[in-house]
Amino acid sequence: MHIDILTILPRLLDGPFADSILQRAQDNELCKIEIHNIRDFSIDKHKSVDDYQFGGGAGMVMMAQPIVDAIERLSDHRKYDEIIYLTPDGERLHQSLCNQMSLKKNLLLICGHYKGIDQRVRDEWVTREISIGDYVLSGGELAAAVLVDAIVRLIPGVMNDETSALTDSFQDDLLAPPVYTRPADFRGLEVPAVLTSGNFKAIEQWRMEQAHEKTLLRRPDLLRSEGQDNSVNTKKR
Ligand code: 6GU
Repeated sequence: MHIDILTILPRLLDGPFADSILQRAQDNELCKIEIHNIRDFSIDKHKSVDDYQFGGGAGMVMMAQPIVDAIERLSDHRKYDEIIYLTPDGERLHQSLCNQMSLKKNLLLICGHYKGIDQRVRDEWVTREISIGDYVLSGGELAAAVLVDAIVRLIPGVMNDETSALTDSFQDDLLAPPVYTRPADFRGLEVPAVLTSGNFKAIEQWRMEQAHEKTLLRRPDLLRSEGQDNSVNTKKR
């Protein structure tokens, strides 16, 4: 998988991909992540990337030209399966969307700032708009890092334990059960006996019950059978 990210603050994305699973995925050539500075595509002598909004109002808007020039330049090299704009008014990110994205070959992510990007870029070039939750970040970079992490760890071969990603919270609409490691007695606090029983059927049963109980308590919305249709793409093409 190849992921290109357009940003005006490339340094914000130096850290998140340089360690652990994300770094290993890149070392093993399971994915390549490239950060591109939108400012490098500005044709203005001050290298500006934003301007006042038409109609007035506070806050600057990111101009179409540098972003579209960047999209077009990058599109010379690869055909994008999705051009994703990270924005608080996008479709809310969820596991099934991450699963879908992990099957793609080429993704282009656009990080916005200020009041966002010129609507014409969203209308004509962006194929998907994604939000990572109902709160406002100062820019799309941290959201892009979240999205990339959630996607890349699902690429086959990226995780050590192949089954591990499948037992995550949300993968089957259930929260994950509690986990314990040694010692079996920590300051008098004992591990549930079933886990040390060696009875794997009973352990599986216990984990399933715990997962259901926790989900019922904390996220009953996940158990409702109608669910949310997680597969819809809010952008038409
Ligand atoms: Cl994708 N961007 C920004 N700026 N804020 C957000 C977000 C994205 N998702 C949740 N909040």
